[in-house]
Amino acid sequence: MMADFPIEAVRGKFPALSLTDDGRRRIYLDNPAGTQVPLTVADAVSRCLLSTNANLGGFFETTLAAQKVVDGAHAAMADFLNAASAEEIVIGANMTTLTYHMSRTLGRTMKPGDEIIVTRMDHEGNVSPWLQLAEDLGLVVRFLPFDERSWQLEETALKALLSDKTRLVALNYASNLTGSINRVKALTAAAKQAGALVYVDAVQFAPHGLIDVQELGCDFLICSAYKFFGPHMGILWGRRDVIDTLKPYKCRCSSNVLPERFELGTPQIELMAGLTAAIDYFADLGASAGEGGSRRQRIARAFEVSIAYENTLARQLIEGLSDIEGLVIHGITDPERLAERVPTISFTVEGIEPETIVRQMNAENIFVWSGHNYAWEVVHQLGIPAEQGVVRIGIAHYNTAAEIGETLESVHRMIAMLRQERS
Ligand SMILES: Cc1ncc(COP(=O)(O)O)c(C=O)c1O
Repeated sequence: MMADFPIEAVRGKFPALSLTDDGRRRIYLDNPAGTQVPLTVADAVSRCLLSTNANLGGFFETTLAAQKVVDGAHAAMADFLNAASAEEIVIGANMTTLTYHMSRTLGRTMKPGDEIIVTRMDHEGNVSPWLQLAEDLGLVVRFLPFDERSWQLEETALKALLSDKTRLVALNYASNLTGSINRVKALTAAAKQAGALVYVDAVQFAPHGLIDVQELGCDFLICSAYKFFGPHMGILWGRRDVIDTLKPYKCRCSSNVLPERFELGTPQIELMAGLTAAIDYFADLGASAGEGGSRRQRIARAFEVSIAYENTLARQLIEGLSDIEGLVIHGITDPERLAERVPTISFTVEGIEPETIVRQMNAENIFVWSGHNYAWEVVHQLGIPAEQGVVRIGIAHYNTAAEIGETLESVHRMIAMLRQERS
């Protein structure tokens, strides 16, 4: 499938990919923490700031243009997530801030003794807000562990925790550490049967797969644009019949209509221009892969070709790492199950601290992370010391087989060198 993916054309759209530091090429594998942006995204932000910079709500040229930018971003995200309408799209600072805000709003509908479920697979952004809400309101918290054989959240384990008191289940679509993709539709169905709301963190899934909120059946789904080639901002989708009943904390005189009711203060208008450009980047990729039709159809096609391409790189990386003695990949490694993971691969090596490996790779201008990466619950469930965490290599669809090859050589070389130094 590799031939189907226009990798050279894709790379040509991202100016950062050809930058060098003192003549050294860069290999960006820090993508789960944030991706690079196409020129069109940076241009859209700049154009907005330079030609239509105004606040909203007036009658003059620039304020009207700014409103169009805001409306355009909501419509683009509705296409990206297959929301029933742009009114279901709430845009804010980032996933964590939006989740704290929505959790407080939902808290207004809960009472002491109500139960909520969080998981041991989630990033802290989808755990801490709920734990602190529970502390404030006297809610009962139940933890859903992941299965260490499948690396996924299992419906049977969820069903065992659900009761008629469960008000909310907060879970993730894909893990930012193990890379596992959860069967969100089935998990959601189980939670809904018990009468609970479902809040899905799709931050790590969004760059790697097509999201269809209507198909999933959840109530909320959240993602962050800077993980899918856009600017630093977060987007929350809320099912209309749910969010329309909610009363967020907000200024008395601010708008009560959807979605402004949930968008506090002046929006990040220029970043919204960049967000639309990021979604259009996907749509253009789909068009170049032969899909006409609506923006949604073109986005869907973009994911078809990028998933196939990413999977070849993930397979190459997993196979290359598997040769190293004492190296453990914390996640799905079976090549037959690549469709059940995103290409974020975390590992530890017996006797060597992750940070030591990462610093050496960083010195070769290979950008990777070490640590728990806020997957605090995951490292605890796995018994990995949180202060050490893992080495995390995260592929995006602009990476190449040559980059993965160089990265593997680097990891092999580092580990051999560190072992020799210590022997
Ligand atoms: C799975 C997941 N959820 C939530 C977050 C937090 O996102 P934000 O930085 O937009 O608050 C991250 C960030 O890495 C993440 O990977």
